Amino acid sequence: MKVLVIGNGGREHTIAWKLLQSKRVQEVFCVPGNGGTAKLAKCRNIAMSVTDFEGIGRFALVNNVALVVVGPEVPLAAGITDYLQEQGLTVFGPTQTGAQIEASKAWAKELMQEAGVPTAKSAVFTDADTAIDYVKQSGAPIVVKADGLAAGKGVTVAETVEQAIEAIEAAFGGQFGAAGQTVVIEECLIGEEASVLAITDGITIRPLLPAQDHKRIGEGDTGANTGGMGTYAPAPIVTPALMERIQQEILEPTIAALQKRGIDYRGVLYAGLMITPEGDPKVIEFNCRFGDPETQVVLPLLETPLETVMLACTQQTLAQLPPLGWNPGAAICVVIAAANYPDSYRKGMPIQGIEQAEASGAVVFHAGTKFNQQLLADGGRVLGVTAIGDSLTDAAKKAYAAVDCIQFEGMYYRRDIGHRALK
Ligand code: AMP
Ligand code: GLY
Repeated sequence: MKVLVIGNGGREHTIAWKLLQSKRVQEVFCVPGNGGTAKLAKCRNIAMSVTDFEGIGRFALVNNVALVVVGPEVPLAAGITDYLQEQGLTVFGPTQTGAQIEASKAWAKELMQEAGVPTAKSAVFTDADTAIDYVKQSGAPIVVKADGLAAGKGVTVAETVEQAIEAIEAAFGGQFGAAGQTVVIEECLIGEEASVLAITDGITIRPLLPAQDHKRIGEGDTGANTGGMGTYAPAPIVTPALMERIQQEILEPTIAALQKRGIDYRGVLYAGLMITPEGDPKVIEFNCRFGDPETQVVLPLLETPLETVMLACTQQTLAQLPPLGWNPGAAICVVIAAANYPDSYRKGMPIQGIEQAEASGAVVFHAGTKFNQQLLADGGRVLGVTAIGDSLTDAAKKAYAAVDCIQFEGMYYRRDIGHRALK
């Protein structure tokens, strides 16, 4: 079968790479893909925009694509699944209505309240003055969130009332466009974060291995928020007993609430969780897609063929699928970024050493690269170096040995990925 993957990040490189490990998958097309998918055997990049629904639909039909996998949230929120399904295509990823679980934080909060899912207390505002009064009454710390998609930049964890007011004024002042004209203000949760990505066919929902993402730029989880500087799985904080609670208290009630609204949600439901000091899981946010860079550690550990899992979701036969098979080890992904990321950064630096890194036993997923006679950096996050080991310690040793093989001007990475689990 032929599969079309939409997106151009490390997540999509990982999905394409994993799909191609299945004998049943003959060819993968990536729209638009990156320097990594360009070099992957049996994979072809197609230069189209992820929101060119007509172009993508025509290409998929002409090329007999059996499955379309949508990586990023933007085309999902814009209704790509609805459009492609109308063309008769099979799509892994929720419809536009389902994607609201990520595309509107106010909508997601209402759904969680309806479903009785544990989450931070919150209130929704459509004007700055009322929001500011609320913050003054509540005090800090407090969290201010733009309602809509803001490329990971819409959340301010405010330590002071002044910071919260600044964030409110920026949102209503147009910093995030329409996405910030509604603001969700919520209680600041404390604890340790974990990501549980679950696959669902709209009725049955099953978690993948839990992962943990390091979102801050600096070692010791300090400094500015980024798209994710590294991940590891499985995250030991999510014990089997806790995963059972997450299934019962979060995943199943959420799917039931979606069903009650008539939403047929087939794809990934990603729960960003805070595990409180009491050991209770609370939802920070839901995403309607695979996490990036969580995918770079979760999928390499999956032993069940990925297309089988995805087709079971699209065909609504997940209940019949045997339990997912997993490599018993652990995986770590170290992200290598351009100098000065997440602020403005340069592109176009030549990258060396990927072959040596892979010869050492790691896999190098490309996040922001392009191939123009040679491999060039082309994004803030440039590469994700993943290694699997018998233990997290072993995986970390292998991943950092591979990172040592890679060079480009100004490259930056954290040396402490996995530190919470390794200590
Ligand atoms: P997001 O952009 O929605 O992924 O949120 C970014 C980060 O903000 C999360 O990973 C958390 O670290 C933090 N955050 C969001 N909501 C809360 C909350 N209610 N309490 C504490 N931290 C939060
Ligand atoms: N790793 C965070 C995200 O994918 O949203």
